[in-house]
Amino acid sequence: ADPSPLQDFCVADLDSSLYINGFPCKNPDNVSSQDFFANGFQQSPGEFNIFDVNVTRQDVQRFPGLNTLGLSMNRVVLKPGGLNEPHVHPRASELALVMDGNLFVAFVTTGNVFYWKIVTSGELFVIPPGLVHFQLNIGHENARFFASFNSQNPGIQFAPLALFNSTPSIPDLVLSKAFQVNQSIIELIKSRFATVS
Ligand code: GLV
Ligand code: MN
Repeated sequence: ADPSPLQDFCVADLDSSLYINGFPCKNPDNVSSQDFFANGFQQSPGEFNIFDVNVTRQDVQRFPGLNTLGLSMNRVVLKPGGLNEPHVHPRASELALVMDGNLFVAFVTTGNVFYWKIVTSGELFVIPPGLVHFQLNIGHENARFFASFNSQNPGIQFAPLALFNSTPSIPDLVLSKAFQVNQSIIELIKSRFATVS
């Protein structure tokens, strides 16, 4: 969760050259009603990633009115079989509403206990902060959900990409030891992500 605001609002000045925790406020004289609206979810999802998922984020970078308010939202669309692959949000809990489809939703605790459920339209799910979780579309149609976060900038770190597609790369020796397999298997996995940006 983010720190509490110290004023009614603080619309982010994304062009400021100051580096602070969050973004500096736009001069309130220049703030207009438009700063408190965003239409990013009106557009249909563009590209789907290699996991057949599209995530449209409405965080502070895309919706500057969220600055200091401790809130943001994502829209996630998954093709049939699409997997929003295991990831964490380092700065937020996630509360999501399923709009369409059938999703296998799960998270793993710090004690490595696996919790899961199949959810469908109208159902909510919650992911505690910082825990590894995923959603898999197990239906025959696209699935869609909206996820809200108690941070203006929840962050999203995908486990496969963090481990196998970092820049520079994590040494094979480390991953080989970590996953208890030989280095050729690590090289193979890395090659699968070579085209992901
Ligand atoms: C879904 O888990 C998301 O973080 O958008
Ligand atoms: Mn998530």
